[in-house]
Amino acid sequence: MKARIVALPGDGIGPEVTNAAEQVLDKVSNLFNHDIQIDERLMGGVSIDKNGIALTEETLADCLDADAVLLGAVGGPKWDDPSAKVRPEQGLLTLRKEMGLFANLRPVSTHQKLQDSSPLKNELLKGVDILVVRELTGGIYFGEPSCRSVNQNGNLYAVDSMVYLDYEVKRIVELACSLAEDRQGKVTSVDKANVLESSRLWRQIATEVAHDHPKISFDHLLVDAAAMHLITKPSNFDVLVTSNLFGDILTDEASVLTGSMGNLPSASVGTNGPGLYEPIHGSAPDISGKGIANPIGMILSAALLLRYSLKLEQEAKCIETAVNLALHDGCRTIDLQQHENSLSTKQMTKAIIDRMRNNIT
Ligand code: IPM
Ligand code: MG
Repeated sequence: MKARIVALPGDGIGPEVTNAAEQVLDKVSNLFNHDIQIDERLMGGVSIDKNGIALTEETLADCLDADAVLLGAVGGPKWDDPSAKVRPEQGLLTLRKEMGLFANLRPVSTHQKLQDSSPLKNELLKGVDILVVRELTGGIYFGEPSCRSVNQNGNLYAVDSMVYLDYEVKRIVELACSLAEDRQGKVTSVDKANVLESSRLWRQIATEVAHDHPKISFDHLLVDAAAMHLITKPSNFDVLVTSNLFGDILTDEASVLTGSMGNLPSASVGTNGPGLYEPIHGSAPDISGKGIANPIGMILSAALLLRYSLKLEQEAKCIETAVNLALHDGCRTIDLQQHENSLSTKQMTKAIIDRMRNNIT
């Protein structure tokens, strides 16, 4: 098949891991005889430096026009001035909103050989296979008003608004239920309904959706309890559906189960149109430029791109199997193994590519 992908390497380690994913996609093209073209564009801090804004109209149009978008990471200390008018993250948030990517799928599963990379006890990590479905275009990330001002007493104050509309909750919980049908059939909806009105609406709508899916075992959990259960009994979860902010926080926490945040991929999808695929980690300024970043989260994001946007299931599996084999064979970047035998980003990428096979032909 023929496909065109826009890659937005972004900032920090973004370009290093994006390069790894591009090599893996080239290998897929060769192995399975596809024509996957990848065009790189600037987004984030690098775009602020060149264009004064994090995402230009042209780049947004290119993304909307592509079959899928691959994204590295955005942000860094250079653009972190709290009073700055433009921020790298604005590019990412605008992209998610304009592309209508209301759902962010973050699969979290443990690899048997990586149990010692996690600070948690080995027995807790067995059989962990969670799909976090994070709402991505609503909630406190986009609610209005969002502003700063001075009150009558002369105090500086800031407001962010957590707003959810009924249809936003309905579509994300419905998606979670339909994804659960192909898994263990269990959905946990996470909110803070004991305190927040937006969470009470969330719970009401989620309960209605659950009634329409009698085969799904559905429960609700408060976010503070969910944060605890994720590390005390992670194997109890199947699909976890939650709001934008809670999903952001809980997936960083959940990544600890897998041994490193560098392992986790994500797929952002909407009703139609191209999807956006990015690792859940950030630009990691502390290790950027050293060539030691873990490329797995990014490489597995490329696998999700093949699965969801290009409908190439075998090709997605080929990448996932190669990653599992490399881990099985002891290949590790430094975040997974803190000693001198660790592999560089390039070596880890090569280890994965060397294990890719086309099992169909
Ligand atoms: C993520 C990131 C982003 C988010 C940042 C970079 C805006 O943390 O994708 O998890 O908060 O959504
Ligand atoms: Mg995050």
